[in-house]
This record gives sequence, C-alpha cells and structure tokens, in this order.
Amino acid sequence: MNNGYLKVEHAQALTGQVELVGAKNAVLVIIASLVLTAGKSVLHNVPVSADVLEMIELLRHLGAVIFFDTEKHMLTVDTSLVRSWTVSSTIMQKTRASILIMGALLARFGKAHVGLPGGDAIGKRPIDYHVKNFAKMGVSIRSEADCLYAEVDMLSAARIILEYPSVGATENILMAATRAHGVTKIINAACEPEVLDLIAVLQKMGARIVVETPATIIVEGVDFLHPVEHHIMFDRLEAGSLLMAVAATGGEIYLSQASADLLDVVLLKLEEMGHSITVGSDGKGIHLKATSTPQAVSFKTGPFPGFPTDLQAPMMALQCLATGTSIIEETVFENRFHHAYELQKMGASIKIEYNKAIVTGVEYLYGTQVSASDIRASTALVIAGMIAHGTTTVLGVHHWKRGYEALEKKLQHLGAVISLHEADVLHGPLPGIQKEQATP
Ligand code: EPU
Repeated sequence: MNNGYLKVEHAQALTGQVELVGAKNAVLVIIASLVLTAGKSVLHNVPVSADVLEMIELLRHLGAVIFFDTEKHMLTVDTSLVRSWTVSSTIMQKTRASILIMGALLARFGKAHVGLPGGDAIGKRPIDYHVKNFAKMGVSIRSEADCLYAEVDMLSAARIILEYPSVGATENILMAATRAHGVTKIINAACEPEVLDLIAVLQKMGARIVVETPATIIVEGVDFLHPVEHHIMFDRLEAGSLLMAVAATGGEIYLSQASADLLDVVLLKLEEMGHSITVGSDGKGIHLKATSTPQAVSFKTGPFPGFPTDLQAPMMALQCLATGTSIIEETVFENRFHHAYELQKMGASIKIEYNKAIVTGVEYLYGTQVSASDIRASTALVIAGMIAHGTTTVLGVHHWKRGYEALEKKLQHLGAVISLHEADVLHGPLPGIQKEQATP
C-alpha cells in the first residue's frame, strides 16, 4: 500500500491508438502454473503491474530463479530449484491470486502449506470451492490460525461439480488435476478467456485437457509436465477500460490487438448507448467512435461471456452523465459498489438497492477527492474525473498500480490530463481539496 494519488483534470475527447498489455488475470495464474514443471519457461507480453511483481516474489520465495526484462515484457522463470511448498501468510496476504499456487504445489509435491490469501474489498471472497474440491481429490486439509496445511500422497481424479463457475477454483482444480491419477471432470467450470489461456499453457506443458460444452473441462492426469514458452493473451479488461474512457469523453480509439469475441456484451452495451463500433472482418481490431449524446443502458454482470464484473465500475461511471436511467445488477460479487458512493461525492445520482445500482444521468459531475477500494473502482473514478468539472484526486492508487501497467500513460497519450503522484498525502494538501478556512 502507498499514499500516492492520481490527479485527473477534465479531458477533451480522447483520441488515438494504444498498445494493450498481457492480461493480468491470465498471467498471474500462468506464473503460478510454472511450479508444475522443473525447468526454464519463458513468458512474453507480461505486464509490469504490482500484482504480477508480487506473484514473481512468491515464486522466488519458493526457490524459482526469475529474470524479468520489463522493457521487453519477457519473464524467464526457472523452477528447477523449487523445493519448498510453504508460503507465509505475509506473502499470501499480498494478493488474492496467491491462492492459485495451491493447485500447482499439490500437483508437484503433494503438499501446500500456505497462508490465507489477501485481496480486494469487493466481497467475502471465500475459498470453500477450492478447499472442498481438493478434499474430493484426496487432499487432507487442516486449517490453523491463518494457515492451511494441505497434504496428499497421490492426487486422485474426481468428478467435480462447481455450484458457481468460480475462476480461481476452476484454475486451482485444473492445475491439480493435470497430475492426478485418472480423469477429472470439472462441471460448471469457469470458461473465462484467462482460464482458456491457462489451459493453452498446460497443454503446451503436456497436459491432456479437453473443454466440452456446456462448460465442462476434462483432464487426464499425466506423470510429467515440461517447461513452456507462451505469449500471454491481451488484457480484455484494459481494452474495455480504454474503450469506456474514450466513450465517456466523446472521443475515438482503435485497438488493433483487441478481439471482439472477448468483449461482445460490453461492445453491445456501448453500442446501445449510441457509440459506434466497428470490428475488423476477422473479428480483430476494435474501433470506437463516441456519440455526443449517450443514452443510459442497463446491464447485469455474470460469468463469461456475460458482462464482466471487472468492467461494471467503469461502465457505471459512463452512466452518470448519460440520458435516462440505468439499472446495474452485480451478480458475481456481493459487495462491489464502493465506487458508487465515491461517484455520489462527485455529484452522481445513484441509489443502491441490495445488488442493484440505479443510476440517473445528471448534467454535471464535479472534481473532488475520492478513494478507490479496488482495481476497477480506481478505473471508474479516473473516468469520472475526466468527465467532471475541475480537478479530481483519486486516493487508493495502489489498486491502480496492482491492476495496470501505467494505464495513466496510455490515457495521457490519448490526450487525458492525468498524473500519478507517489508523494505521501499525509504531508501537504492535495489538489482539488479546499484548504480549511483559517478561523479568525
Ligand atoms: N466464491 C465462493 N467460494 C469460492 C470461490 C469463489 O463463494 O471458493 C465466490 C466469490 O466470493 C465470488 C464468486 O464466487 O462471489 C466469483 O469468484 P471467482 O472465484 O470467480 O473470482 P476469483 O477467481 O477470486 C477472478 C479475478 C477477478 C474477477 C473474478 C470474476 C483473478 C486473479 N481475479 O477472481 O478479478 O473479478 O475472477 O471474473 O483472476 C480484478 O481483476 O479486478 C478482479 C477482481
């Protein structure tokens, strides 16, 4: 955590083209999966964001030798010397994705002694699906204080039915199943593109995996997995955030690397707002030209291919100035509306009723000091800052840095007036904040 802030001024129409980085939610689990192998793997298109650096530290702690060429976004990970299956609570607490090391450690060593994971304040985020399904695969799990002690002699294949298609649980079970004895079936599995990128990596390692409709992943355990070279898929959430930032400011953008099939419902909703979207004939390359009279749209988050929960907050920012009323239903996390209260501070008209936010478009938003509670809340507040009058100061900037590699620079490139300040906010007034009147 740090005390930095983002300073955002009202923006003109953002215009231009930018390159997308690799997907944070794919690379985190893919780095963890390298523990399944003993040897040197190379990952390309790895974003330099704080969560990625934390996952690298976690692997180093286990004994991996890692070189990160941040200029080339190339990560070399040698797992030959990984001998440990223990990760302290301090390291596990740094991210939520740390829990994904469990499946890989159980597959390689039959043991995982790990602290409980950390993560965003977006809901309770239990790990019961992970734990109870590892148990189905023969793992005995003891929990003591804030640590889990998981052990198994030989992982056995199982018929796993997920009551909800959890991304993390699917990934953890999948990694464990690659070395289990027999054929594991994961029914009602998450089929997010990031899960499919993990499957592509596991298949390159030599794992036997088939994905069947509807949402079933079949894994036949093998004795050995070998190191890989892989290009991480583009970050559809960075792409969606950029499209929304540009749409909000009435601009125009072309994302050559983005493919429409990973953003279909998002594009549909942007079109319903009145924005014009064109996609290359092969489905690749997304061009957005914003309307100057956006209409409010309602939407509901859901597992892929539904509207991604990770784009709910930025899309809410767009509804604040749109004409009409938007009903936003969050179905993935039970507490992911913190940004709504911050948007209210900027003048937005939002009513929260259980898991629904009802946003009625207003004429203006006003810059003020707001605080981001998670990665995507920070995106929402930055977008709101760009369409608000005056200066917006976004605190909680460590969330921004966890999820994005210098997204503020890409926004600057498109014409935004935004700057990231690492300064300690406790020392001195923040921009956009009125100094208290001196009492006479
Ligand atoms: N859930 C349980 N029990 C479990 C696991 C999940 O009840 O054992 C519940 C969660 O509490 C939540 C729902 O299931 O209500 C979905 O959670 P899921 O497990 O799918 O989420 P995750 O794996 O923890 C990943 C992404 C999130 C993204 C969600 C949903 C990573 C590292 N994180 O989290 O990304 O929102 O899937 O798509 O892949 C972000 O990037 O900002 C972010 C939060």
